[in-house]
Amino acid sequence: MFRIAVMVSGGGTNLQAIIDAIDSGKITDTEIAVVISNNADAYALERAKKAGINAVCVSRKEISDRDAYNKALIAAVDEANVDLVVLAGFLVVIPEEMIQKYRNRIINIHPSLIPSFCGTGYYGLKVHEAALARGVKVSGATVHFVDEGTDTGPIILQKAVEVKDGDTPEVLQRRIMEEAEWKLLPQAIQMLAHKES
Ligand code: GRF
Repeated sequence: MFRIAVMVSGGGTNLQAIIDAIDSGKITDTEIAVVISNNADAYALERAKKAGINAVCVSRKEISDRDAYNKALIAAVDEANVDLVVLAGFLVVIPEEMIQKYRNRIINIHPSLIPSFCGTGYYGLKVHEAALARGVKVSGATVHFVDEGTDTGPIILQKAVEVKDGDTPEVLQRRIMEEAEWKLLPQAIQMLAHKES
């Protein structure tokens, strides 16, 4: 059984897409061993609990010392004994020690076609605001391995999404989630769970 940890910070719609893909059989021989959030108020934690999945909060508010926080985060992942770590809207910088320990076993979903609109400061609605400001006609989402950089690891999957006249950042964000993110992340997990290229 391929075991995954899903790390979250917010609403958890990408987590829900993974849960639903496992339930529907789009992802096979895989289980979510733990959901880890840095934010005690993340609705993603509610989604995990409703699905009967072990949910852990390693709160950045409660552990102010960065080194202590990093150690606690790594310990939470280690304890779950997983094959893959999935960042699904996780907004805390992954400790370098964890990237080394889980080399090529951490993936992230980013809401643009990397290398556009990514890197430091490009997260959430900011990504879509930048895409609309640039006037691109196509945006999308990317699943990539996590390395020491920000959104710089090897790309696994991408999916393009049309930008429509009059799109607001919120409307574009939702379309990219529905048409790209919620499809790509389960697809990438299924590929990695079965060592498909
Ligand atoms: C998504 O837009 C994802 O691309 C980005 O953070 C957001 C997380 O949303 N990394 P959710 O918590 O999965 O709903």
